[in-house]
Amino acid sequence: MERAAVIVAIDGPSGTGKSSTSKAVAAQLGLSYLDTGAQYRAITWWMVNNGIDTDDPTAIAAVAGKPEIVSGTDPSAPGISVDGTDVAGPIRTQEVTSKVSAVSAVPEVRARITELQRSIAAAAENGIVVEGRDIGTTVLPDADLKIFLTASPEARAARRSGELKGADLHTTREALLKRDAADSSRKTSPLAKAGDAVEVDTSDLTLQQVIECVVTLVEEKQAGK
Ligand code: DC
Repeated sequence: MERAAVIVAIDGPSGTGKSSTSKAVAAQLGLSYLDTGAQYRAITWWMVNNGIDTDDPTAIAAVAGKPEIVSGTDPSAPGISVDGTDVAGPIRTQEVTSKVSAVSAVPEVRARITELQRSIAAAAENGIVVEGRDIGTTVLPDADLKIFLTASPEARAARRSGELKGADLHTTREALLKRDAADSSRKTSPLAKAGDAVEVDTSDLTLQQVIECVVTLVEEKQAGK
């Protein structure tokens, strides 16, 4: 059966299973995939690498248009490069993670990355799953399906410390809540649930259960329900 090319927006804070779910759903349904957090991390990496003071929004804004960011959209191997350099590894360092909220709050950075995201979504002929913080509210307000993943701070910290190979739970929880507060309180397109998004609390669900839940929602949408 021919499937409709759906645009799916998946938003929510970190540690809710957003990336794993989005990738798996896209792979299972033959859709493209875009990790928008990786793009904000990539531009942050470039700022750090070029000696830009990430506490200075004016300095960041002045060079926001410089780096060329190319995002892969294959859910099994997304990949990301900046000016031709593969940065998939370097964008996950603690240094980038601690600075990405400040860089992504700068309006010029958001405008640049939002434009890139919209052009990637428009080019995805087979449909796409786009994950982030402001996809349903700002980047793709006309998405066919919007999902907002949540989870308790405890569940999110436990998942993150597992990913970070047993990092201290308390420290992980505090860092996570700090980044959430910054991402939710910034002036330009903060982390927020769109009014028409379906909220899924993943605290007590396994990853497989979350994937199944989202796949069902997408298939219902494709079937026109
Ligand atoms: O999903 P992540 O942890 O890789 O995202 C990194 C940061 O990027 C996160 O702290 C907030 C920011 N971000 C954003 O502001 N808007 C998005 N659409 C995606 C991420």
